[in-house]
Amino acid sequence: MDRRRFLVAASVLAAGLGVPGQAAAQKRVTLPAPAVPGGKTLEEALRQRQTRRDFDPRPLPDEVLSGLLWAAWGVNRPESGKHTAPTAMNRQEIEVYVAKADGLFLYDAKEQGLSRISETDMRAATGLQSFVGTAPVNLVYVADMTKVAGKTAEEKAFFCGADTGFVSQNVYLYCAVMNLATVVRANIDFPALAKAMGLPSTKRITLAQTVGYPKA
Ligand SMILES: Cc1cc2nc3c(=O)[nH]c(=O)nc-3n(C[C@H](O)[C@H](O)[C@H](O)COP(=O)(O)O)c2cc1C
Repeated sequence: MDRRRFLVAASVLAAGLGVPGQAAAQKRVTLPAPAVPGGKTLEEALRQRQTRRDFDPRPLPDEVLSGLLWAAWGVNRPESGKHTAPTAMNRQEIEVYVAKADGLFLYDAKEQGLSRISETDMRAATGLQSFVGTAPVNLVYVADMTKVAGKTAEEKAFFCGADTGFVSQNVYLYCAVMNLATVVRANIDFPALAKAMGLPSTKRITLAQTVGYPKA
């Protein structure tokens, strides 16, 4: 990602960060300004984009989590409310949940914050591979099927899958720039995870993605 543009975006976000009201303080987490990736070029990021499954358990600093989420699905044009990833017909149906040791959160792209959904550590439920339970962050991509474009079930499945792919690739590129390990995953017990997350039937888990520092 272009460093100057990222800095502009970070300062816009930092300027726009609101202090949540006292009543909502326990449920709302305002993220710090996103961590600015170092000086890697787009070419370097593309060359280094890769799947890694060796995760160190240490948590990501908040500014790195903030940068990761902003890269994934942040609002990059506040004037129109549009995001870093495209969606078919701009339906913006993708929700990004964050499963960490201290609970399950929903990313609020408009406010660059997190809303706590649960205090339970659900990382192990986000996939069927052993590393998911100990890696610091598992993103769970969810499509609000009431918003997704398409007339038929097949079209809707295609659009929400395609839209998720752009978010995932943004995460891959952010991880490449920040020397983080990541793997996008479909190897999930989808009904069990939807139940654990308390999702209504109108919301569909599309993919999950683990992120963390690579094992030394
Ligand atoms: C839609 C999709 C689903 C995937 N599901 C899994 C998965 O469940 N578990 C896993 O370890 N890797 C999964 N992967 C990662 C692929 O195995 C990986 O991208 C592939 O081996 C190519 O490696 P690369 O990403 O380093 O190019 C998935 C990739 C995609 C695009």
